[in-house]
Amino acid sequence: MAKQAGSNSFAPLPVGSVVGILGGGQLGRMMAIAANRLGFITAVLSPRPEDPAASVAHHHICNAFDDKTGLAKLAELSDVVTYELEQLPADTLRWLMARVPVAPDLRILEIAQDRVREKTFLSSIGISTATWSAVERKEELLVALSRIGRPAVLKVAYGGYDGKGQAMLEQTTTDAEALAAWDHLADGADMTAIVEEKLDFEYELSVIVGRSADGNKVAYDPAFNIHKNHILDTSEVPGPFTPMVAERAKAIGFKLAEALELVGIICLELFLLPSGELRANEIAPRPHNSGHWTLDAAHTDQFEQLVRAACGLPLGSPTRFIDAVMQNIIGEDMAKVPDYLKIPNVKLHLYGKRDARPGRKMGHVTFLKPSR
Ligand SMILES: Nc1ncnc2c1ncn2[C@@H]1O[C@H](COP(=O)(O)OP(=O)(O)O)[C@@H](O)[C@H]1O
Ligand SMILES: [Mg+2]
Repeated sequence: MAKQAGSNSFAPLPVGSVVGILGGGQLGRMMAIAANRLGFITAVLSPRPEDPAASVAHHHICNAFDDKTGLAKLAELSDVVTYELEQLPADTLRWLMARVPVAPDLRILEIAQDRVREKTFLSSIGISTATWSAVERKEELLVALSRIGRPAVLKVAYGGYDGKGQAMLEQTTTDAEALAAWDHLADGADMTAIVEEKLDFEYELSVIVGRSADGNKVAYDPAFNIHKNHILDTSEVPGPFTPMVAERAKAIGFKLAEALELVGIICLELFLLPSGELRANEIAPRPHNSGHWTLDAAHTDQFEQLVRAACGLPLGSPTRFIDAVMQNIIGEDMAKVPDYLKIPNVKLHLYGKRDARPGRKMGHVTFLKPSR
């Protein structure tokens, strides 16, 4: 089938078509495995030969994301391209989109990349967030902080993840300490940030929604997420909230996917307030760690859902058929693997990373039908 370069129309791709993946981490790896399972060929572009996705892809293009040589190879090989990370240069996606369909498209990535754009977009479509204020320069910080009040969270607009790039400004934090927190985050460079009210939430949850080019949508059961040291520790489905909260979270996810005209999948992180209201936190236009339970407990997992959407296939059922708790295996948790292997209701997924550095996501396990 001829490539519909630049048109971004997503006609069904036949078996043997090539799915291009930008990024070689564990998400790219699980995307490639899902694509392989559906009969597609995979081409991964990532900078290191030892990247987790490289060993499961048919083609590994070992280049930086802004290197035109690698991008040209990816565009030539691929019938459609998707990505596993948000910190991609806009030029990279723009260049690719002129040559091959890319899902989700650049406009969506640009919204998700930047907390100012993200929160502005969410507000513009009537999805509530914490009260926030953009801070373009250090000189604006104290004014923004007095508007939002303390406690507040200072977050870099671009590039933060796993709690990196943010600082809690407590009730007792002085102006001088707040300015020092800015300097620490900026690390000598120009920085745009946001200040948002610190919410006293009851639970953190996330909902994953898939949407195809023809406008069909599916939503997974929202997961209840617990973080440890700012890194996701566990995701549990169903969560300890009412089915009505779960339905409302799905409805917000649908609204977002619709407004973005998404082709692919998106994860929306939400806070549940004690009042029962939901506040959106951030979005990721890709499979998400909090959706790894879908590999073992849903009819169609989040990676396959993305591949289906990007390749113009019908979306699969997101129905969950068993209760599940996903537990991340971080750094030294690798020592627990022999024990996990002995538990009958545990599904183990390792990402093939050799070096178990502290804080590094090495794999995850899913406990099926765990007793509470
Ligand atoms: N406004 C807020 N109020 C309270 N806690 C917050 C707020 N924003 C973020 N957090 C906490 O910090 C964590 C990381 O923040 P988040 O915005 O999701 O950034 P990232 O996941 O990119 O590091 C959240 O999961 C939540 O636990
Ligand atoms: Mg987050």
